[in-house]
Amino acid sequence: VVVIGICSIFIKMGSYQPYLQSLKELLHVTDAQLTTVSDRMLQDMTYGLQLSRKSKTQMEMLPSFVDSLPDGSERGAFIGLDLGGTNLRVLLLTLSDPVDNGSKPVADIKSESFKVTKDLLEGTSAQLFDFIAEKMASFAHKNGLVGKKLPVGFTFSFPFDQDRINHAILKAWTKAYHIKDGVGDDVVQMLHDAIARQGDLNCEVVAVCNDTVGTLVSGVAEDQNCQIGLIVGTGTNAAYLEKVSNIESVESQGADRWMCVDMEWEYFADTGCLDQFLTEFDKQVDASSPMPGQFIFEKMISGMYMGEIVRSILCKLAKVDNLFAGNISETLATTDAFLSRYVSDITEEAIAEHGKTEVVTKILSSVGVTPSSEDVVIVQLVCEFVSTRAAHLCAAGVSAIARKIKANHPDENDLVITAGVDGSVYAGHPTFDTMLEDKTAQLCSAHGVKVQFIHAKDGSGKGAALIAA
Ligand code: BGC
Repeated sequence: VVVIGICSIFIKMGSYQPYLQSLKELLHVTDAQLTTVSDRMLQDMTYGLQLSRKSKTQMEMLPSFVDSLPDGSERGAFIGLDLGGTNLRVLLLTLSDPVDNGSKPVADIKSESFKVTKDLLEGTSAQLFDFIAEKMASFAHKNGLVGKKLPVGFTFSFPFDQDRINHAILKAWTKAYHIKDGVGDDVVQMLHDAIARQGDLNCEVVAVCNDTVGTLVSGVAEDQNCQIGLIVGTGTNAAYLEKVSNIESVESQGADRWMCVDMEWEYFADTGCLDQFLTEFDKQVDASSPMPGQFIFEKMISGMYMGEIVRSILCKLAKVDNLFAGNISETLATTDAFLSRYVSDITEEAIAEHGKTEVVTKILSSVGVTPSSEDVVIVQLVCEFVSTRAAHLCAAGVSAIARKIKANHPDENDLVITAGVDGSVYAGHPTFDTMLEDKTAQLCSAHGVKVQFIHAKDGSGKGAALIAA
């Protein structure tokens, strides 16, 4: 299998057009460079925890005030709300006594998802929160919860400042949200106001958390060793468990306290620290994005941009390298026409799994292009280059977190920690998880720490309910 694999890569390499070869080099981040990225992120994490952080790093390193984790003793019914990049999920988590002398409570989850429409993404905060309250009410009606006073945990996938667990001042709308107001306001208050306007509901939002924090907490319910929560979906970000004594903005009340810190790593490269890796395509994607110059790290990794990077490359290849016989369809020429989902579907593994090379042709014909067999291989390779770079940059970030956690446990040799991960890219791309895992292992190998990854599927909403619990 290895020999056949190497031969087939060799054959493909042989047929590379010169531009494609240089593209491969352009999108390749070497191990030495990834180590530098990891070092830089580790340094920025430390800066970000200091009160004098502002000039030193763009990463927020926000204390979440989630300072206790599920230990299996939680019981009762809790509502989890999860507002993500594209969907709102409402769930009811019921935790009851373990069966057969087990230690974990029996968790029953009923949930429903709703698409956040373009109108809402571009409307006002009141419209968005009214939508959330309305969907909560319809969920409550369907599940016989009307009139019951249930605690709500709210996952809100944006950066916000907290001074307690149920108070969150919104710092920015990110991803595809272009809401005109709400920044500077308390997210919990906005939700309570919408619940009051809705009229039918009787619930109290007892906790609000970022999706990475929710994912970390739901990871802990699966594996007590989970100390990292990672999202690679429409957006990307990570949270981890930090010693309170290291967080300057939080009063430390004893050496042993820990708290989840929401890194907001999508801001990491906004200092310009990754500028050397930015290709003309990254710059193009950034320039045509609603927030140029911001979220550069996220733009190199997450699902909101991955398809667009591939699309820009394909258009260039059609122009300079005769891809698609030089024809760029009207659709392919349109911003965001090439979905990140296609990048996942187009990888060789996905094709092998589905047993049909027609996958590529079908996707390309949906953007108005009829590829030759050589075009198909080239498109596959472009998708591979872009998603490999994303996974490797993500691994550099995870390795920095692992090293930070290791530094907090200096006496533990060969520390093994778990990362709970979710998001459409992580879950939908057939090799992203393996690439992330392998590269993280490699980058951590010299630092006496290992990271195990678990897929915390739909973890952020469940995590919010668990935090409420
Ligand atoms: C948001 C983060 C979030 C991440 C993953 C980013 O765009 O700013 O707060 O955790 O996406 O959803």
